[in-house]
Amino acid sequence: MTAKIVIVGSFNTDLTTYMERMPRPGETVSGRKFVTGPGGKGSNQAVAAARLGADVTFIGRVGQDAFGDQAVRFWQQEGVNTDYVVRDPDHATGVAPIFVDDSGENSIVVVLGANLNLKPSDVDSAAAVIARADVLLTQLEVNYDMVGYALKAAKQQGIRTILNPAPAGHLPAEVVALADYITPNETELEVLSGRPGAAVAEAARSLLTTEQQTVVVTMGAQGASYIRRGSSALIPTYKVNVVDTTGAGDAFNGGLAVALAEGKDLPDAIAFANATAALCVTRPGTAPSMPTRVEVDELLAAQR
Ligand code: RIB
Repeated sequence: MTAKIVIVGSFNTDLTTYMERMPRPGETVSGRKFVTGPGGKGSNQAVAAARLGADVTFIGRVGQDAFGDQAVRFWQQEGVNTDYVVRDPDHATGVAPIFVDDSGENSIVVVLGANLNLKPSDVDSAAAVIARADVLLTQLEVNYDMVGYALKAAKQQGIRTILNPAPAGHLPAEVVALADYITPNETELEVLSGRPGAAVAEAARSLLTTEQQTVVVTMGAQGASYIRRGSSALIPTYKVNVVDTTGAGDAFNGGLAVALAEGKDLPDAIAFANATAALCVTRPGTAPSMPTRVEVDELLAAQR
């Protein structure tokens, strides 16, 4: 059965410059290449899930501008349902100037614009789609009240929830408690748990308030660890040639949502998400670098 995923999240137009190394404060360096393309954590996750074969609905806001037009066209090409995308009359589409150096590392500034104007009515209008979903996935590039609102809307319907707490931020404990899966990287975990310098397992356990919750910590080239009451494990990832790590976390979350929605057990779901992220970092860009289902299945089969 096709996995049904609802994503409440952001779209940004990514303005990416590739360079040998990042400039220091006050320094000018020459870039090698500049590319404009679709990004935003929510949208990247939506595209990842759609390419993996899921039926994906995106709930979010873009402006009534050229970047907003490009976003809607791109989602339609990718087969993402845009029925609940609002064209905000007062705010511009989000943008993200990004620097990527020769090692593939990135630095990002987000100017979230219309994403921050998402409203409860935008989520309410999609109530019927949320009720039929297998998984609702959200992140922190919309206003934090809406993160809690979206998670609550899903939980009230008995729908499984994933909270990707990215970019790093402090969320009220009652909002974190609405997530079945919480998927920070190590920096986001430190901020969310308020325990800088603590061991990953200790910080992750501090977020768990119910038996049903799991923290999945993405750890770059090492893979991802899951921590829940009574069990934890590191699921290693795949060795690949890294070109651009931007969007790797989004690929992971899109992959995890699809795998859980398809009923995979947690270690297999994380292995699937690791493979999705591993393929993403072998290509430049964010949404355009998301792999297809065939590519992910081939990588998984080659590792068996
Ligand atoms: O996770 C990568 C994304 O973060 C980029 O696409 C950028 O838009 C920022 O939201």
